[in-house]
Amino acid sequence: MKRLAAFTMALMMLVPLAAVAKDAARPHAAALYQKHCAECHGKERLGGIGPALLPGNLRRLRKKKAAKVIAQGRISTQMPAFGDKLSEKQIAALVKYIYTPLPQMPVWGKKEIEASRHIPVDTDFSVTRPQHDADPLNLFVVVESGDHHVSILDGDTFERLTRFKSRYALHGGPKFTPDGRYVFFQSRDGWITKYDLYTLDVVAEMRAGINTRNIAISADGSVIAVANYLPHNLVLLSADDLSVIRIIPAVSADGASSRVAAVYQARPRHSFVATLKDAPEFWEISTDPKRKEALYEVRRVKLPAIVDDFFFDQSYRHMLGASRDLKGAIVLNVDTGEVIRRLDLPGLPHLGSGITWKWQGRPVMATPHLGEGRISIIAMDTWEVVKTLKTPGPGFFLRSHENTPYAWADVFFGPDRDKMLVIDKRTLEIVKVLNYAPGKTVAHVEFDRYGKYALISVWEQDGAVLVVDANTFEVKKRIPMKKPVGKYNVFNKITFSEGTSH
Ligand code: HEC
Repeated sequence: MKRLAAFTMALMMLVPLAAVAKDAARPHAAALYQKHCAECHGKERLGGIGPALLPGNLRRLRKKKAAKVIAQGRISTQMPAFGDKLSEKQIAALVKYIYTPLPQMPVWGKKEIEASRHIPVDTDFSVTRPQHDADPLNLFVVVESGDHHVSILDGDTFERLTRFKSRYALHGGPKFTPDGRYVFFQSRDGWITKYDLYTLDVVAEMRAGINTRNIAISADGSVIAVANYLPHNLVLLSADDLSVIRIIPAVSADGASSRVAAVYQARPRHSFVATLKDAPEFWEISTDPKRKEALYEVRRVKLPAIVDDFFFDQSYRHMLGASRDLKGAIVLNVDTGEVIRRLDLPGLPHLGSGITWKWQGRPVMATPHLGEGRISIIAMDTWEVVKTLKTPGPGFFLRSHENTPYAWADVFFGPDRDKMLVIDKRTLEIVKVLNYAPGKTVAHVEFDRYGKYALISVWEQDGAVLVVDANTFEVKKRIPMKKPVGKYNVFNKITFSEGTSH
């Protein structure tokens, strides 16, 4: 008995010893992180001079690429190279570490948000007209993700008015005030920047979340809604000074905490609409100042499945929602909260890029599909697919304009990603296949306010925006840009042009 006890004791001693020995051989990722990275990326990996290093935020960066960034740094940025300081094993451990979720939900509440808020001291509040000669409603805002800059283009001369450094990794579409004066940018790491298109200056900035999906602006331009993945909430801000109006925790009716999949404004309804990413719920949040009792209250609608992406008809009475789980889409009557139809759409439609027009007197919408080379055209009176166009590969963006008979679609994925397809909105046929930059990714079209020119991105580090005559398809100008991932025409955005997504 005694001997057995002694043996057990020895075993018990051995186990922790073995663990320690093994641990010593493995690099201590957390300690390495604190020593070499925390100063720029934050003690808790929430970001600082450098971006947040969390799995949700790093989703678009492959692990191999992350290891390369750590070893070699990023040229002409503050990210240093660690190849001579850290072993390959240590770098591998750090990569594993930064792709590991935080042990608990980070705190980013009203206090932290308010502390991040910043209004530049030199803001001139007396300016009432543009301080440049360009048509303020025909400006283009171009997001260049290659080196995290934004360019502002004159939409008549296609001269660049200015180019400025943005927050790290802007994404989702920027949103404009109804008068077209201010634009709000949102970064992957939750930074919201208010920019004045009259003075060409940043006028306010703050951080509304840690990992943010997108933003929306209310119909009257007074409230900004921020859909966060981390923390799980929807943040409402004053569009005036970006102060917090309300933080709405994203908790489903069943009590489950969830990311917010996306938020949009439903202009005729005077509300924000959102869906949850981890629970089958649709939310409507009233911003109608006339309905004081219901202001900012959440109306919940239970859905048959989680909706990842959605689209509204012009009346905002119907929502078309795409669902991975249903392998298709549902049509929700937003007033009654009833699902009135299910659509079989193979591959996930990318409804966020949907555009609409009139075809044979009927309203139709067109959407590309993720993972499938097709474009579906759906009649919105009966919610039937009236046409399926086969494309050389899956596309990402679709664009048109009231003044052109054509819709333009890219082929974002696959070997044909240099092609641009032109669809005749009258015949629903692909009538042209354009190739302006063979071998390069060519994507994302935006029209000027008159629909005369289509601006196309050559989506590369040393890329460009091509200004193309929308009737003759000839290139009028090539403007060099660093990976121009999106461009937005003020007029088309504030008038809710049917040819562009919102
Ligand atoms: C002196 C500041 C600084 C230090 C120290 C630093 N970084 Fe960075 N890091 C940055 C900046 C700034 C960027 C953004 C670079 C850019 O603009 O592309 C960055 C980018 C990165 C990226 C790419 C993120 C993305 O979303 O593309 C990774 C990964 C990364 N750093 C990891 C690390 C790790 C791991 C360490 C510690 C070993 C570290 N960094 C130390 C400043 C720093």
